[in-house]
Amino acid sequence: MNAPFHARAGSRDPFTAFVCDDATADMLRPVAVEHGWSPEKVNKGGLRNAVQSLSVSASPNILFVDLSESGDPLNDINALAEVCEPGTIVIASGHVNDVRLYRDLVASGIHDYLLKPFTVDQLRDTFAHAQSILSGPRGEAQVDKPHVMTAVIGVRGGVGASTLATSLAWLLGEKAHRSTALLDLDVHFGTGALALDLEPGRGLTDAIENPSRIDGLFIERAMVRANERLSVLSAEAPINTPLITDGTAFFQLQEEMRNAFESTVIDLPRQMLIQYPHMVHDAHVAVVVAELTLAATRDTIRILAWLKSNAPQTKVIVVANGVPSGGALEISKKDFEQSIERSIDIVFPEDGKLAAQAAKLGKPMAEVANGKMAAPFTQLSNMVLSHASEDGAAAETKTAAKAGAAKGSMMNNLKSMLAKKAA
Ligand SMILES: Nc1ncnc2c1ncn2[C@@H]1O[C@H](COP(=O)(O)OP(=O)(O)OP(=O)(O)O)[C@@H](O)[C@H]1O
Ligand SMILES: [Mg+2]
Repeated sequence: MNAPFHARAGSRDPFTAFVCDDATADMLRPVAVEHGWSPEKVNKGGLRNAVQSLSVSASPNILFVDLSESGDPLNDINALAEVCEPGTIVIASGHVNDVRLYRDLVASGIHDYLLKPFTVDQLRDTFAHAQSILSGPRGEAQVDKPHVMTAVIGVRGGVGASTLATSLAWLLGEKAHRSTALLDLDVHFGTGALALDLEPGRGLTDAIENPSRIDGLFIERAMVRANERLSVLSAEAPINTPLITDGTAFFQLQEEMRNAFESTVIDLPRQMLIQYPHMVHDAHVAVVVAELTLAATRDTIRILAWLKSNAPQTKVIVVANGVPSGGALEISKKDFEQSIERSIDIVFPEDGKLAAQAAKLGKPMAEVANGKMAAPFTQLSNMVLSHASEDGAAAETKTAAKAGAAKGSMMNNLKSMLAKKAA
């Protein structure tokens, strides 16, 4: 479906039909019911009635219109375009079997043309496709929001990077109303789909095996939908199969996701960062997830330094996850910050109960969190969005200046801290 009908679907009636004969009405009503739509939305009167009715009422998400009684279908469809609000998916039907008419109708914004007599299965297919467009990435992607790409990197295994990546993607969809893609690059052990109670499907595996197939249509088909504004590409590749790719597939996926969605969150395991450094080049924001341990301090230092030299334009958010309350810390927040020579931006307390509850429900932790635990999640998504919209040039200069000053000293700092501890 293209202009002029296609822009944004709001909260309107899901479905309305205007048909010319009883047979079509009788076929439509039960199919409408199957979709949860009211059978009363199937009106008699065809295109003329549709134009009249829509000139005084809101347009539905899906409009079925019968052109059988129309003398000049193309002209009449253009009259419909004038009263139909953007976002409506229009399905037309009629007796005229002419490919030129079909092409002209599609060019003027019709989603599909069902030639009469059509079967109930053809009708179902058309509705299914219309619905997938409404709920899919392209349903709302026409809105002018600049794309925001975020890479989430855990400095050590198990620090909660995937938990935060899934939560961030969910928040960007649900709270920031952005169509969002979650790209889980932990190809063998990814939990992006699992955490959302979904089957990962073969999408990512197919993409890696066959990067030349990756295009907009591939993305639309291969991604698994978690909800209206969140789609996931994840895999559980067999663990006897090594990952063999030069990274082209990942680059292509990133590119296509940028076109199809308003935000992309990449769960980027640190080994993948080493293997495919280009994955962060285009990221606006990198969320570096750490825990307050010595090993994580060392690797935060290393990853921050890597980001500074390999992706200086990427804004960095440092997160400490699973921070226990009380004194059971391997390293204090203050010492951690001193060693990494910057402050932690967001602290996520340890909350095993919440983590278990999220896992049991198959929901992202951010969705289940409330009260005190909800605050850092909101902070994370706000920070990602504000970093992405900041004046890049000013921030870059600042980062470069800081990088110069800090060069080489962070490791010394950690070493002296370790020496202090040992003494
Ligand atoms: N703040 C938290 N409090 C308690 N448990 C948490 C917290 N954050 C994450 N977890 C739990 O920690 C475990 C590991 O999380 P997750 O899989 O997100 O880590 P990861 O860094 O992606 O690990 P991997 O290195 O395997 O990719 C999960 O069981 C998750 O529920
Ligand atoms: Mg992970």
